[in-house]
Amino acid sequence: MGKSRLDGKVALITGGARGMGASEAQLFIDEGARVVITDILDEDGKKTAERLSPDGSRCLFLHHDVTNEADWDAVLKETLSAFGQIDVLVNNAGIFERGTVLDTTLAMFEKTMDINVTGVFLGMKTVAPHMVQRKSGSIVNISSVAGLNGTPGFLAYGASKWAVRGMTKGVAKELAPFGVRVNSIHPGIIDTPMLQTFEAAGEGVREAVRMRIPLGYEAEPIHVARLALYLGSDDSAYSTGSEFIVDGGWSA
Ligand SMILES: NC(=O)c1ccc[n+]([C@@H]2O[C@H](COP(=O)([O-])OP(=O)(O)OC[C@H]3O[C@@H](n4cnc5c(N)ncnc54)[C@H](O)[C@@H]3O)[C@@H](O)[C@H]2O)c1
Repeated sequence: MGKSRLDGKVALITGGARGMGASEAQLFIDEGARVVITDILDEDGKKTAERLSPDGSRCLFLHHDVTNEADWDAVLKETLSAFGQIDVLVNNAGIFERGTVLDTTLAMFEKTMDINVTGVFLGMKTVAPHMVQRKSGSIVNISSVAGLNGTPGFLAYGASKWAVRGMTKGVAKELAPFGVRVNSIHPGIIDTPMLQTFEAAGEGVREAVRMRIPLGYEAEPIHVARLALYLGSDDSAYSTGSEFIVDGGWSA
């Protein structure tokens, strides 16, 4: 059997209890990694970790609010004590609430920025020193196609995902001299629990969105996980500060 693409590596995936994060965790484990998934959803997180690694040797769930710096310190400590190192950080946790500039409240805007932007900042700030010290590591930040263009009704979310894309590029240049890579992923429409917010927006909204996807269908989380695997593995050794799009042609 050939070598798996993440043999010997350890990954930390935020928001990994369900959706894309859980799919990434599964693929990473299949490719030889040991994975810590974190989330605020404790029941889902524990169930996912048990499903991915019944004996607990390859997957661990930790309670974690990405907006909380003390939580990040605890997650770093517990991950290192369980698995010894962190090779890949996937900043995946995020929320989406629909709203235009006319109806987005300050509270909604601040909550979105707190989770989607501060959470990614704290993740990089917490884990980068460890990676810099080892002169190795890959950080994968999950942005969105809404971080590539203007999307009506996505005021707060779009602002947050543009910020993720911008931070990714700056930090990539800061950490490149230390052999640490940082890239962003820009998914289009992916079938996860987050998509239910489209259904909540009204009948036919989801269908109307689907009609605008050139490939004609919504992606499964595995489509994004395969890109995260590429970026987490040494296959992408020469890519840093770049945006990787997986959107069925949407932004073309
Ligand atoms: N689904 C899509 O179409 C789509 C498209 C583009 C980008 N994205 C992005 O992909 C990422 C994953 O989303 P998903 O579609 O799997 O949605 P999801 O809602 O299924 O997963 C997001 C996870 O993040 C967790 N989370 C939320 N707040 C948190 C916090 N404060 N601390 C820790 N965890 C927290 C949630 O509990 C959830 O498990 C998000 O960053 C999202 O913005 C999704």
